[in-house]
Amino acid sequence: MPSLRDHRLTRLLGIDHPLLLAPMAGAGDEALAVAIARAGGLGSLPCAMLEADTLRARVARFRTAIDAPLNLNFFCHAEALPDAVREARWRERLAPYYDALGIPRDTRARTARRRPFDAEACTAVEALRPEVVSFHFGLPAPALLARVKACGARVLGCATTVEEARWLAAHGCDAIIAQGWEAGGHRGAFLEAPLAVQPGLFALLPQVVDAVDCPVIAAGGIGDARAIRAAHALGAAGVQLGTAFLLSDEARIRPVHRAALQSPRAGRTAVTNLFSGRPARGIVNRLMEELGPMSDDAPAFPAAGAALAPLRERTEPDGIDDFVNLWAGEAAPLARTGPAGTIARELIEAAFKPS
Ligand SMILES: Cc1cc2nc3c(=O)[nH]c(=O)nc-3n(C[C@H](O)[C@H](O)[C@H](O)COP(=O)(O)O)c2cc1C
Repeated sequence: MPSLRDHRLTRLLGIDHPLLLAPMAGAGDEALAVAIARAGGLGSLPCAMLEADTLRARVARFRTAIDAPLNLNFFCHAEALPDAVREARWRERLAPYYDALGIPRDTRARTARRRPFDAEACTAVEALRPEVVSFHFGLPAPALLARVKACGARVLGCATTVEEARWLAAHGCDAIIAQGWEAGGHRGAFLEAPLAVQPGLFALLPQVVDAVDCPVIAAGGIGDARAIRAAHALGAAGVQLGTAFLLSDEARIRPVHRAALQSPRAGRTAVTNLFSGRPARGIVNRLMEELGPMSDDAPAFPAAGAALAPLRERTEPDGIDDFVNLWAGEAAPLARTGPAGTIARELIEAAFKPS
């Protein structure tokens, strides 16, 4: 029976404490990763939105700052073909907002790409030799995964159901992240389980632990040491925390996101597809209240965000978060401010050290 003295994950990943920083695209870079690594956890670098040069530079800065294992995180979504009909329907839904703000309806804005893991990213991994590679939205094609494993990297995959956990174990993951319904950011789902059947962490975790032989990492709504201990009591070999670090000094979030997280609204999150086309949990804002939170009109991932960009660019400088994705998990009100290393050390101390 796994326990707080379960060393499988620390041995597998080469870390001192079984606490992983959730990779958070658009919210954390190598500064956050270094802070968590210095505290003895696993630093993670979200790579889905990075060009190869930026990725190389960030890894170099991490390596200069600390000699510790590093997790590089990639998305594995299938890129959807453009759908002109849906795109037009989506723009029609948003037209009243464009009109109210006096923005011409045909305005286009540049948005950051979200790349699925491909041969170019794999070549970068081979050159950078991260100790750990984690994937969201399934796994890459077998030939690419074999190349990642041939570099010696430990591979982590994210499961939102027991079925996904079994699939990931059967396809070569060294450890599995069980992502509960409470989690902030995108749902890692990849086997098309309807949202309505994706379980919360308390139900999912022990079932995943029973279903697979590899270590299981609990993620979703873990906001303090009590929740870390609970996850271990349910069989987790480690935990992955995202929202708990969003208010830290090293998090790179927008001022409106920080303000929402520090307001009473932080306790009201929902899963929405409005901002990217894929279900993700964030703090409820005006767009989610008025159009969703889920809409069949939103184009497939990641295209939905493009039509929102002009609205966001016009309103966000005035502190308005109506069109901003405010990713956060259900435990957001527990998030604390301060240096990420201090937050991590205090969590580790309170959760893992015998009193
Ligand atoms: C702002 C934000 C961005 C995220 N981006 C990613 C990402 O790029 N890759 C990934 O695998 N998971 C991402 N996630 C999900 C996390 O890996 C993890 O499942 C989640 O943070 C756990 O729930 P918690 O936020 O309640 O701790 C993100 C989460 C948040 C809050």
